[in-house]
Amino acid sequence: MRAIAFEEFGGPDKLRPMALPRPKPERGEVLVKVVAAGVNPVDWMIREGGLAPYLAHRFPVIPGWDVAGVVEEFGAGATRFRKGDRVFGCARKPSVQWGCYAEFVSVPEPALAAMPAKLLFEEAAGVPVGLLTAAQCLRGLRAGQTVLIHAAAGGVGHFAVQLAKHAGARVFGTAGSTGQSLILGLGAEAAIDYTREDFRVAFRRACAEGADLILDAVGGETLARSYELLKPGGRLCAIVDEPDAAAAAAHGAGARYLTVEPDGARLEELAPWFDRKKLRVQVHKIYPLAKAAEAQAASQERHVHGKLVLNL
Ligand SMILES: NC(=O)c1ccc[n+]([C@@H]2O[C@H](COP(=O)([O-])OP(=O)(O)OC[C@H]3O[C@@H](n4cnc5c(N)ncnc54)[C@H](OP(=O)(O)O)[C@@H]3O)[C@@H](O)[C@H]2O)c1
Repeated sequence: MRAIAFEEFGGPDKLRPMALPRPKPERGEVLVKVVAAGVNPVDWMIREGGLAPYLAHRFPVIPGWDVAGVVEEFGAGATRFRKGDRVFGCARKPSVQWGCYAEFVSVPEPALAAMPAKLLFEEAAGVPVGLLTAAQCLRGLRAGQTVLIHAAAGGVGHFAVQLAKHAGARVFGTAGSTGQSLILGLGAEAAIDYTREDFRVAFRRACAEGADLILDAVGGETLARSYELLKPGGRLCAIVDEPDAAAAAAHGAGARYLTVEPDGARLEELAPWFDRKKLRVQVHKIYPLAKAAEAQAASQERHVHGKLVLNL
């Protein structure tokens, strides 16, 4: 099968077109013919070797955790789908080798869901990691609570804004000047331009009492400056850098790092929301598979609004 893969860690130039054997679905897995693959920051982090201390890697590595495609074949015990079904999901596995930048990917059945009927494959491929991460970070958010979302125009953030709004929360998001209208259009009460003003000042002006929840999808200085915006009893959910629990506790709040879990059942619950236009996926740009290196380099610039997608 056609694939884009790398044989050693390094820059985008390590990504090469390769002819690799089609994976065989293991027990409980579904072989998906990939129509579109989402590009996530984790894809280039894996390519650079950043996840090597945590996950086993076997070369050549085909990157890509997000898939939308058509069911082709089944491993023993995988019974939920039929050949030809349109599915999407997060294809992350305990070891890194057979990802979605390829004609076929084999995915554990529980990670897959039936695709929203009204989405294109290129849209559905932009959903799983971003939406599941947002949903898992916002779990427990209640109506009337206040949430601050950092990188609200990004792949995770633009779903978080919508889910938080649907939960009945007051939603604030940070982005640069070109991301402001996207965040507001998705339902945020205010968009904070982190390039023009210290986000702490802007947030306090809009919401003096502080945040019940902060979703930090930026890390570094942004994370370090966020604890003081938490209300007593509030919590911070970090997905980039490990948060400082003591710094949060100093404000009577909690903080934790979250790692997204593949969850086909949750995707299936939320799929009708796309069809009813209650949720939307913002596709920033679609690249052909052969331009995967270009797509990853663009992701690495950290200014994507919505999602980047590869078309097979
Ligand atoms: N732990 C997990 O399981 C998990 C899961 C998913 C993602 N992540 C991580 O979370 C991060 C975000 O993922 P993503 O897919 O949303 O990335 P992304 O789409 O590439 O994020 C790009 C966004 O970041 C914004 N941004 C950059 N610097 C910012 C700043 N200082 N303040 C506010 N916004 C800023 C950009 O807005 P402007 O262009 O307007 O500046 C852009 O919209 C990545 O590091 C990713 O690896 C972790």
